[in-house]
Amino acid sequence: GGSDGPTPITLGFNPVAKNKADAVTVPAGYTATVLYALGDPLTAATPAYRNDGTDTDFANRAGDHHDGMEFFPLNAAGTARDAAGSQRGILAVNHEAITDQFLHQAGVTARPRPAAEADKEVDAHGLSFVEVQQAGGRFAYRRDSAFNRRITPLTPIQLNGPARGSALLKTKYSPAGTQTRGTINNCGASVTPWGTYLTSEENWNGYFTRSATDDAARGGSAAPSVVSLVRYGKAQGASSRHGWETAGADDRYARWNISQTGTSADGSDDYRNEMNTYGYMLEVDPYDKGQAARKRTALGRFAHEMGVFGPARAGKPLAVYMGDDSRGEYIYKFVSAATWSDADANPANRITTGDKYLDNGKLYVAKFNADGSGQWIELTLGNATIAGYSRYRFADQADLLVNARLAADAVGATKMDRPEWCAVHPVTGEIYVTLTNNSNRKVEPSSSSQHQVDAVNPRSYTDAPTATSSSGNVNGHIVRLREAGNESGATTFTWDIYLFGAEAGMDPARINLSALNPENDFSSPDGIWFSRKTGLAFIQTDDGAYTDVTNCMMLVAKAGQVGDGAAQTINYQKADGSTLAVQTRVGARPTTQNLRRFLVGPVDCEITGITETPDGRTIFVNIQHPGESVAKADLADPSRYLSHWPGNAGYGAGGAAARPRSATIAISRNDGGLIAADGDDVL
Ligand code: FEO
Ligand code: CA
Ligand code: CA
Ligand code: CA
Repeated sequence: GGSDGPTPITLGFNPVAKNKADAVTVPAGYTATVLYALGDPLTAATPAYRNDGTDTDFANRAGDHHDGMEFFPLNAAGTARDAAGSQRGILAVNHEAITDQFLHQAGVTARPRPAAEADKEVDAHGLSFVEVQQAGGRFAYRRDSAFNRRITPLTPIQLNGPARGSALLKTKYSPAGTQTRGTINNCGASVTPWGTYLTSEENWNGYFTRSATDDAARGGSAAPSVVSLVRYGKAQGASSRHGWETAGADDRYARWNISQTGTSADGSDDYRNEMNTYGYMLEVDPYDKGQAARKRTALGRFAHEMGVFGPARAGKPLAVYMGDDSRGEYIYKFVSAATWSDADANPANRITTGDKYLDNGKLYVAKFNADGSGQWIELTLGNATIAGYSRYRFADQADLLVNARLAADAVGATKMDRPEWCAVHPVTGEIYVTLTNNSNRKVEPSSSSQHQVDAVNPRSYTDAPTATSSSGNVNGHIVRLREAGNESGATTFTWDIYLFGAEAGMDPARINLSALNPENDFSSPDGIWFSRKTGLAFIQTDDGAYTDVTNCMMLVAKAGQVGDGAAQTINYQKADGSTLAVQTRVGARPTTQNLRRFLVGPVDCEITGITETPDGRTIFVNIQHPGESVAKADLADPSRYLSHWPGNAGYGAGGAAARPRSATIAISRNDGGLIAADGDDVL
């Protein structure tokens, strides 16, 4: 490999059929084993998980809703990083959210929430770091490892970058605006070129509440902080997801109520700014517990799905590609001020290397043009359109970064169909972004929250195979970009749509534009990731539209490159009888030869999070929230649970009647070969 084009690797497994089994299905010749599930103890002193709602001490256990993940290799002795170590390593795992009913014996108690329940729920969020080791061809986690660590929504975190110390980040907890407590709703994740973990804060706004009269307390609906709160989904009177603010007067509960209660000018006597300390990319050094994790404010504040680095080339700046996962939000790029030095690939101090590359740089937002070109627009007060924006007056660059969505609005960036994961092809350097679905994408928008079909978000339809009316982008798609000159700092790019999700039977002229067949059809792409060893793409789904037929899944692809397909026009009939013609750009249509289904998960789960050992012979995949749809009234009757995985696969207490648990699985090929590949070719 290494040339500019498709790799010689081909797919070498039998496709897995769509199914609704309460099990993980992988191809013949592969073995999937459960490695690390909700509640698993992370110290020798922590009791085994009973999985009946009576367990406590989640700050010393695996959290819930496993999501983005990375493998940080160790040497054979387990004492230090070894870039090639494939027998032993630290798994860093995001715990995005919780299935709250299953965390308590009789389910969730109504508000005011008991402190013991709130404490458990808070601690089940955040990140975990757990050492895993292979023995006899099978990975297991080490309960007693000194690398095991939890970061929860209460762990002290450093605020770094241009917004550090800004008035917008001052709280009663950190009047200087330089620290916050914890991280929450961590979604996708990646590894930095210097070997640290880069994780994301996605739906953090849902955890906070605001009183119904908070606008007036802040100076009225036109006050800058109110405009910001509304743009970030927190209108006055909005309630919190779990009601933790009702659990007691202690600041660790009160902080979730961001109503203005103090009288200071800058917010340093209450928690009115607490939500401004969430919504960032967060960097952690998994190898060194002594280093404080950093929120990197230079990368902007929004519903960060994930950030992934473009190719690191000596003497060139580094680029980080990022999606904001909400309907009609944007794709962003950060470009470092520092240029890459290969000496930083294994530095003496990893987290201060992060300071060097991630605390100074430029933030851009993407604008897609119908002709297949695009622009990266820098978000800076040097842009007169941003400086003169009538809806919001930015005080300084810190304000702009904290309110990046408003700056992106000002420059007319392209509203996308929910940007989820980003991935960079290891050979071509092209950037892939999943757009999971968008119920607000319309042929004829009728409100400001709806977005008209355009070249890069061209579909709106119902999920009935032959219907012609418009109810949004039901099944999602995957866009890809090539930077001009393949330069990380480029301000222009070209793009096409690599794949359109669809059911195989749907209309090929308007919906199934990628001509998917029963062996590779899918809906709602979310995770996307390339094996660094084989260059194969792994695509994971978080779907509600096709789940009448199949549980969520993972496919493997050998991807081509931007421009390998053709332009296509979709004709929509408008209400007045006229036609709206939308021209889009469809990548080369896949066949089963270069796209096929590798895995189907258990009932009512999402497949998300994937990483590999450096030798490419084990992959780790996360099964998130199996059987999450459960009513409190049904907790006492296990026959009412939608899933019993992984208890029904022999993992942990409870067996076939177990409460379901989010978990990490390890997958290997029975002959020891490269995952999903045919033969043993590597890049
Ligand atoms: Fe956490 Fe947008 O998925
Ligand atoms: Ca996701
Ligand atoms: Ca999703
Ligand atoms: Ca999820």
